[in-house]
Amino acid sequence: MIKACIFDLDGVIVDTAKYHFLAWRRLANELGFDFTEEENEQLKGVSRMGSLELILQWGGIRLSEEEKQAWAEKKNNWYREYILKMQPDEILEGVLPFLDGLQQRGVQLGLGSASKNALDIITQVGLRNRFSSIVDGARAPKSKPDPQVFLIGARDLGRQPSECIVFEDAAKGIDAALNGGFFAVGVGREEHLGHAHWVTPNFIGLTLDDILRAIHQNA
Ligand code: BG6
Ligand code: MG
Repeated sequence: MIKACIFDLDGVIVDTAKYHFLAWRRLANELGFDFTEEENEQLKGVSRMGSLELILQWGGIRLSEEEKQAWAEKKNNWYREYILKMQPDEILEGVLPFLDGLQQRGVQLGLGSASKNALDIITQVGLRNRFSSIVDGARAPKSKPDPQVFLIGARDLGRQPSECIVFEDAAKGIDAALNGGFFAVGVGREEHLGHAHWVTPNFIGLTLDDILRAIHQNA
């Protein structure tokens, strides 16, 4: 029986991946190189410092710890310029009716994000009070694919992982959910998320019954 749904934030509830990309790209450009949207895919679900390490590798750049901290802070300031302007109309299409449907059925809602900006984003788009558990990058320092972020969420909600579905747009987020013993639904493209129990391109018109049926068929 599914008692709770735990949602990743960036790329699932809102499209902040595009703001992360813009800010990281600006950093790369200031350091004299560029990277592609396909490379950016590898940054999804990865912590801020983990992302910086990858980007510096792509650019073949070595920095001291202090310089890394300074660049990460710069990137975060650029990123925050975008997110602090976000409005409720940036919630991805289909998400609100899907959350409504879950709440009508008494399914608990949790948020599980690697981002230290998660609380600000969720407040900005007016969804903060919807979630009974919010676990962000500050509460769960271990990066996905470690399941920590979702395990803390399940504990908050008083549920076992086997009673929860995790929704994720990042391959590493699906790994985290599977590593923790959760049902994992990928939101995005099959080619990136094929290891999930089921993949949907988005939430438009989706119901919990659709998902339960699909998970059951693929089991
Ligand atoms: C994840 C994003 O949700 O949060 C990553 O998918 C991001 O791209 C990570 O690096 C950390 O975010 P923040 O806001 O703490 O820099
Ligand atoms: Mg994400």
